Amino acid sequence: MTNQDLEKLVDTSDEWITTRTGIKERRIIKRGEKTSDYCIRAARQAMEAAGVVAEELDYIILATISGDMRFPATAIFVQAALGAVNAAAWDISATCSGFLFALHEAEALIALGRAKRILAIGSELLTPMTDYTDRGTCILFGDGAGAVVVTEAEDEERGVLSTYIGTSGDQADLLYCIGSGTAGSFSSGLATNGEHLLRMNGNEVFKNAVRTMGKAAVTTLKRAGLNTDEVDWLVPHQANIRIIEATASRLHLPMEKVIVTIHKYGNTSSASVPTALDEARRDGRIRDGQVVLCVAFGGGFTWGGAAIRF
Ligand code: UT7
Repeated sequence: MTNQDLEKLVDTSDEWITTRTGIKERRIIKRGEKTSDYCIRAARQAMEAAGVVAEELDYIILATISGDMRFPATAIFVQAALGAVNAAAWDISATCSGFLFALHEAEALIALGRAKRILAIGSELLTPMTDYTDRGTCILFGDGAGAVVVTEAEDEERGVLSTYIGTSGDQADLLYCIGSGTAGSFSSGLATNGEHLLRMNGNEVFKNAVRTMGKAAVTTLKRAGLNTDEVDWLVPHQANIRIIEATASRLHLPMEKVIVTIHKYGNTSSASVPTALDEARRDGRIRDGQVVLCVAFGGGFTWGGAAIRF
């Protein structure tokens, strides 16, 4: 869906969307596609790249706020499709920071010796919950999935150097979707009155995102014992190019060191960091031995960071 397509739906323009968000187009699901379909495709590509087969997986952790069903967890469908018979699979809900929460969990489980190989996925189909009459939100979101396989490090110098996650539950009213949750009218069988749609106070979320992404990046680096000048690549959550630029500026990193995909995919929430990581790894920008700093911020609020040496 291009900005020109959106010009036909709401009072907006390619010029406004491009200058205020950096987005030119976003990917939209085909009718009938489910979040698990996206996850399965991403998971297969990640396992192939890692040289890991499904039976070797100990856990599958899927970050999503847009799962196939209320229950069971979408990760269950991914497990079945992959044939990951030795894995336990579950979902986590941490909005746009979800993938970094999954990575945090995966890294901890491996460090504790509870697992050797974990599939961590971030996937969202946000367009079904997007209100295409609200120009403040409908221009932003796209659908996607990204996956990584986290394994025990063969070399102590490489791997996940630090992770950091945080939440502040007192600002949940700034970005939410009631959906079929018990806070809404769905559970009493009443009409949903638009409760299935995502609601956001864009401006307030923007200000919090700028403040928090920078802080989360600094904390993540500190935990890894790294200085900013040791970072080869910043892989930020792709919500708005102005938020990305502000985060890079806070770290004194030039934009040449920042992986940007927002112009092509829009905001894909928990899928944005793993898809950006994958793209930069496959096209040869992220090379072995380089340090990558990932950082994200999302509704709740939630935030997270990870420093990784590839
Ligand atoms: O994924 C993590 C969470 N999400 C985010 O981080 C998103 C954070 N928020 C944002 O990216 C930005 O706040 C938006 C892109 C959503 C909005 O940009 P903004 O610079 O904060 O604009 P605004 O909401 O302050 O609105 C400025 C003006 C308003 O008009 P008036 O009142 O000044 O006349 C809006 O009505 O822009 C208007 N506007 C639009 N105009 C054309 C809002 N949306 C649009 C639009 N096209 N699509």
